[in-house]
Amino acid sequence: MDISQLLCDSPESLPNGSTADDTAANVLFQEIGRGSCGTVFQHNNTTAALKVANKEDGELWNEYLMLARVQYGFKNINLSHNLRAPDIAYFVSDGDSEWWDSHETYFPPRLRNMKPQVLYIERILPIPAPIRQRLIDRHCPEDMKANARDDPLNEACLLRVHLGKRRPESGLDQLRSFFLRNFTIYQGEVGEDIPGGQRYDVRNVECLMGQALAAMHWKVRIDADGVKFVLGMDGKSRWHHLVPSQIAALPENISTWPLTQSTPEPMMRLWLFDSNRCKDMPKNGKGVQQAVQVFCHSDSHFPRPSRKADSNNELWHKFVNAYMETANSILKDEESISVKALPGIFIICCTYWITNDENMNSEESKKPLGKAQSAADEVY
Ligand SMILES: Nc1ncnc2c1ncn2[C@@H]1O[C@H](COP(=O)(O)OP(=O)(O)O)[C@@H](O)[C@H]1O
Ligand SMILES: [Mg+2]
Repeated sequence: MDISQLLCDSPESLPNGSTADDTAANVLFQEIGRGSCGTVFQHNNTTAALKVANKEDGELWNEYLMLARVQYGFKNINLSHNLRAPDIAYFVSDGDSEWWDSHETYFPPRLRNMKPQVLYIERILPIPAPIRQRLIDRHCPEDMKANARDDPLNEACLLRVHLGKRRPESGLDQLRSFFLRNFTIYQGEVGEDIPGGQRYDVRNVECLMGQALAAMHWKVRIDADGVKFVLGMDGKSRWHHLVPSQIAALPENISTWPLTQSTPEPMMRLWLFDSNRCKDMPKNGKGVQQAVQVFCHSDSHFPRPSRKADSNNELWHKFVNAYMETANSILKDEESISVKALPGIFIICCTYWITNDENMNSEESKKPLGKAQSAADEVY
């Protein structure tokens, strides 16, 4: 991704989403998201996003490093093409006047003197209008529907996926406005809110999450702290690429164009992003302990085990199967049997603590391997 290329597109008018503060001439980057670590901008009609640091605490640099490790680590392992992480272009240090001098006029005035750090990454493209409309029809209180439809901020719509929870019974009725920027879809809703069709063919989100977590743990060796998952569109991959194992399973010399058709529109993917809090995870018991702490305290993105034999457990089992399959394939050449056992111990520990509602900070919880060992002894 080259900034000069990016800036060649000159938007004719200020795009939607600008605030009064931003209406000065030359503002080309528009805010599409805000978090505790950074504020995210997009450049009109491109697949570029710029995450600008809110404070100088090293988190954005950590995000840069972790995202690079994810990109590199996810290559050459058998993950679904429906799972993606944003590509990264580069990092800009704070006060870098060479970069800021040629870019400041593209930012809203409030940032021009500050010259904060910037991470230049691929944009996760927003959910298309027909699905936004469907979400408004299904979830928006009647008296807010017109506003929700017309609000330009709702165009930057991404869908947060939380498989560890069902939609709370009340909530939306009490809202004063209805936002689609990071609209949460819960357990059981992916299939209902998203129509079928090749463009939107992201099924088995729980399996994609299992693959992603196993790849982060055992290939990239990070604990996935704070990582989020959204459904959004992929502007780059308009081809359905075949992975090596698919090609190897085909008869030699056959035409593969019917299997790799391009589509005129971006495809939907499950994206993982926001890696600024991820930490190294050693390949030993301490690493598993760290991963278990992160998993059990994380938001409800991932499916969670339930004590009741209900449909929650079906999601959890599918997630676990995908996690174990990916982890085992990554560790297949690992010589140490105790290392090979670590992914299974991770799952046993998470299941134990979540279903027993244990206090993760108790003395007992500091010995997950011992506890997992006895749990494992019970199982085998
Ligand atoms: N690559 C991206 N493409 C599109 N939107 C993004 C991208 N990265 C972040 N966002 C949006 O910006 C918001 C804030 O980004 P996030 O990485 O979560 O920030 P923080 O680390 O500060 O919490 C996200 O919730 C999402 O809506
Ligand atoms: Mg973050």
